[in-house]
Amino acid sequence: MADDAEVCGCNGVCKGDIVKAIKTHGLFTVEDVRKTTKASSSCGSCTGLVEQILASTVGGAYTPAQSNNKPVCGCTENSHGSVREAIRTQHLLTIPEVMKALEWKTPNGCASCRPALNYYLISSWPGEARDDPQSRFINERAHANIQKDGTYALFRACGAG
Ligand code: FES
Repeated sequence: MADDAEVCGCNGVCKGDIVKAIKTHGLFTVEDVRKTTKASSSCGSCTGLVEQILASTVGGAYTPAQSNNKPVCGCTENSHGSVREAIRTQHLLTIPEVMKALEWKTPNGCASCRPALNYYLISSWPGEARDDPQSRFINERAHANIQKDGTYALFRACGAG
């Protein structure tokens, strides 16, 4: 989907606006996107698309509304919300600091929690937290969309035919 493609017809919001708001303000939920961009704040028919854009932008850090209290993954008892809270209140700046502070059950985490922790750190403490490229969501690292069969679909550059 091109960045200039309209997502929310009611409020005239295109995909690029939503992705930019997510990255600039460190948004995690559809409600965050709704408040910041107005997308999905009228008839609501675009909510599913907004959710997909959010999930593909923040990767493992995305938490559908109904699973807010569930643990991030098998490596911890902490939910996404409590991890974000700890990063902010304890001024945690690296993945090892988070894992130590929250008593992670595994020494190096997994493909679910590392992208989430990396995203929460760099969006909570931009300029201070150290970005760990190896912990970025596979799509981000590969600049492509991983498919169910393990192949990749390349992003179509904005405005490209
Ligand atoms: S199309 Fe987005 S709220 Fe109606």
